[in-house]
Amino acid sequence: MTEKPIDAAASAGPEARPQGPVRFPVVLEGQPALVTGANSGIGRAVALGLAASGADVVVNYVVDPQAADDVAHQVEALGRKAIAIKADVSNEEDVQSMFSSAIGHFGTLHIAVNNAGLQRDAPFHEMTLQQWNKVIGVNLTGQFLCAREAIREFKRRGVVKNVSAAAGKLVCMSSVHQEIPWAGHENYAASKGGVMQMMRSLAQEVAPLAIRVNGIAPGAIRTPINRPAWETKEAYDSLMTLVPYRRIGEPNDVAQAVAWLVSDAADYVVGTTLFIDGGMMLFPGFASGG
Ligand code: BGC
Repeated sequence: MTEKPIDAAASAGPEARPQGPVRFPVVLEGQPALVTGANSGIGRAVALGLAASGADVVVNYVVDPQAADDVAHQVEALGRKAIAIKADVSNEEDVQSMFSSAIGHFGTLHIAVNNAGLQRDAPFHEMTLQQWNKVIGVNLTGQFLCAREAIREFKRRGVVKNVSAAAGKLVCMSSVHQEIPWAGHENYAASKGGVMQMMRSLAQEVAPLAIRVNGIAPGAIRTPINRPAWETKEAYDSLMTLVPYRRIGEPNDVAQAVAWLVSDAADYVVGTTLFIDGGMMLFPGFASGG
């Protein structure tokens, strides 16, 4: 087994205690993967991590085609094939046409990562229906639409011997907020709670077909979605009161977990959520209180 490190140092910031070396064992050869929202943040790291692990990658995006092309070129620089496809995950036609182009291009898909997500925050009494619908549309309905196409393809193709023990692997990107209530972010927390129950119910339905469905719940990861929470020293220090491990997560912390979860090393992991959160779920306020 060979291992390839990718840009660990590039993502570690001045305040952060550095993460260990970033490694992706090459165990996903012959398993094309589709990653939604792959042009930035966690999705970008996941796309590159899967490529470093041996997969060809569909780089989905909805805005910023240049960033998606850059990710596709980086996938190619890792020696894998890539195609960037624009699709709004909350739009049924877009999603169906993306999956049919992706499958047409690579022959099939073995891995799908439902990553695309966004926040539209507001105090509850000021939250508009548009803010509510946008977040539910992308974060929850978008995951439904992409999951449905992925499952159809996994079911059609079944297990391929010597490629993977499973007929397909679906990862639903959730959040610690599938569990932790979040004032001022009710639309987001509701979407992630919904993702968890969709993921678990779907996992139960398709496990007998050898399809593995799991969730990943990141905590505070250094990406554009939560920039105000880490870009100043004051914000970073305050964020750290919520993180027992006392460093912000880097996108590669999540990417390495995804690469493992979709590999046969995790073949008996079905319908679970893996928290990648530096201990955010441990109720850190109780370390000295209660
Ligand atoms: C949110 C981030 C937040 C983190 C921890 C994530 O799901 O998108 O904005 O920093 O949860 O609260």
